[in-house]
Amino acid sequence: MVENPAERAAELRSQIEHHNRRYFEDDAPEIPDPEYDLLVRELRRLEAEDPDLITPDSPTQKVGGAPSGAFSPVTHRVPMMSLDNAMDMDELRGWGERLVRRLDQGEDAAPIGYVCELKIDGLAISITYEQGRYVQAATRGDGRVGEDVTANIATLADLPTELGPDAPDLLEVRGEVYLPIARFEQLNEEAEAAGRPRYVNPRNTAAGSLRQKDPAMTAARGLTIWCYQVGALEGGPTFSTHSESLEWLAGLGFPVNPEIRTLDTLDEVYEHCVHWREHRHDLAYEIDGVVVKVDDLAWRDVLGATSKAPRWAIAYKFPPEERTTLLRAIEVSVGRTGRATPYAVLEPVFVGGSTVGMATLHNEDQVALKDVRPGDTVVVRKAGDVIPEVVGPVLAQRPEGSEPWTFPERCSCPLEAPFVRLDDESDTFCTEVECPNQQYARIEHFCSRGAMDIEGFGEQRVRQFVDLGLIGDVADVYSIDLDKVLELEGYGEVSVRNLAAAIEASKDRPLANLLVGLNIRHLGGTGSQLLARAFGDLDRLMAASEEEIAEVDGIGPIIAQSVAAFFRKDRNREVIERLKAAGVNIVGPAAPSLPQTLAGMSVVVTGTLENFTRDQVEEAITGRGGKSPNSVSKKTTAVVVGDSPGASKVTKATDAGVPMIDEAAFVTLLETGELPPTPDDELPDDEPDGRPPDEHVPDDQAPAGVAADGDPTGDAD
Ligand code: IVH
Repeated sequence: MVENPAERAAELRSQIEHHNRRYFEDDAPEIPDPEYDLLVRELRRLEAEDPDLITPDSPTQKVGGAPSGAFSPVTHRVPMMSLDNAMDMDELRGWGERLVRRLDQGEDAAPIGYVCELKIDGLAISITYEQGRYVQAATRGDGRVGEDVTANIATLADLPTELGPDAPDLLEVRGEVYLPIARFEQLNEEAEAAGRPRYVNPRNTAAGSLRQKDPAMTAARGLTIWCYQVGALEGGPTFSTHSESLEWLAGLGFPVNPEIRTLDTLDEVYEHCVHWREHRHDLAYEIDGVVVKVDDLAWRDVLGATSKAPRWAIAYKFPPEERTTLLRAIEVSVGRTGRATPYAVLEPVFVGGSTVGMATLHNEDQVALKDVRPGDTVVVRKAGDVIPEVVGPVLAQRPEGSEPWTFPERCSCPLEAPFVRLDDESDTFCTEVECPNQQYARIEHFCSRGAMDIEGFGEQRVRQFVDLGLIGDVADVYSIDLDKVLELEGYGEVSVRNLAAAIEASKDRPLANLLVGLNIRHLGGTGSQLLARAFGDLDRLMAASEEEIAEVDGIGPIIAQSVAAFFRKDRNREVIERLKAAGVNIVGPAAPSLPQTLAGMSVVVTGTLENFTRDQVEEAITGRGGKSPNSVSKKTTAVVVGDSPGASKVTKATDAGVPMIDEAAFVTLLETGELPPTPDDELPDDEPDGRPPDEHVPDDQAPAGVAADGDPTGDAD
């Protein structure tokens, strides 16, 4: 990189501070934790190379070297492993058969003995006591290193602070911190009364509560815990079964869930799983499955673990949740490119961890295929953080005389523009560029996080300002008459000043953000970054031909055509002139904004990673100069294997001799451009559980940022 280190350090400081605010104050992180760590590490490295670069207010200089307000890292004594999943009886039986084979006890063997526990939907936590005194609590983190949340966990009323005379020298106990449903609902009532947005689900709220800088805030949220496992233990009793260890924990005063059963056969285990699948909502807290563990600890040692999960346990995961509710209406929303998407307006229903009031119906054909009609009782499905889906109608409950739904002929906006559907397309469009519905969506998108990131300029404000004629297009955002805003109800000096500052700050966003904000069809975040990097400034990009744009690595013909067509239009050029006149930055990064560690490499990702969404993975790779294709070939540098990987990619990688790495090695690769020496797939079979395997342990949690409850249309155009 040709960048000046002082400038880079300043840039890093401002980025880190921005992300600290997003994470600690807004509880709304924008980037995955490992990406944040890379920024901090890069700043530390620059400062170490040239101590003159250290400023007193550098995020590296606050509280013991940890970033401002950040929780310091804690290395787990025993890694916190994940669990393999079984989705049905066959998979559960398959697991049982593998156990029998590995234990090899012959015909007359005693029954294996399974402990079935509820799989609590919260956050794994490790809590350490020394000489009976509470000393530390840490989150799971990447399984090897978590975050120190000692002060926050100390506020959990149910957790003992002293273990009494029978305490061992050292005890590390594991459990799941969660928010009871009643408390979650109460917090939402309080939020609504205060005009704040609702919390999405108990699990996310628990996570946010644990990350409060001020422990008093954590205490006020009402978190609690179920303990389910002894981690490290020194100077204490020895146990021959897991159930004994749980009884012992309960005896010391730890909250141990009462719904724990020891069962002898897998049929009984399955029956138990089915019972809880049907009765999960009888509980005061959320569960997402049943964890089945081999009770005999000696057998656990024999079974050992893979690099990811112990072989002696499995999680039976509940299938996506389904609920029925009333379909009040089918409405059509018009997105920023004019795409008209039908969506279901539902009688709100709590399903899969959050309240669903709307669900996309995608397009005309989908509505016809499902034949859902207003007034129908419909089945709604949602799994964890997944987008809610209308499965279909309950025909037995269809009201008499109902008619199939038909797509409206005209847009609901005052212009009542006709909707158009081309013969070979499934989407319907409103073709009137002046359509206010499109205007709202375009301006909202321009102000949103991935684009110009204007804080406080959300959906409501955009609609209000457009309706009042204060803004008509994205460039008007910079000439908005603030005196007029001040006259509006609900706006005071302070809020108008904040709005002005947020608008001003947005002028300095990188060129890629501006490109995202311009609403060019088919052009998303990754493409915008590639174009900004390749052309360096907006004028050069605007002057480029379609062919020149298509020459940029990673930009396909459809995007190239769309970008060139966009800049040819006089109306768009005029908007850009006004943006320039307002002082909006149009210059791209002179040098890549990230170290180009992956230049020339091609990294394929399969399965779900714990800390990156799909888009973030792609950005992390391409932002560092690498390629992120969808399929594996001999040229692939490495395949990153997450949870539930695609079988064909894994097979291809094995056949082509392409190294397969886990998420931790991927983060190292991003940082250094180097692969681990020799990936070690499995622990030796005689490795007793409890001894740290040599690898990072990915979790099976859903990736961050997938929930899309707020967007009824799923409009990604
Ligand atoms: S045992 C090595 N027991 O599920 C075994 N985990 O998918 C470690 N969880 O990270 C976990 N309830 O956060 C265990 N009764 C229970 C659990 C439980 C919830 C979570 C835990 C873990 C995840 C694995």
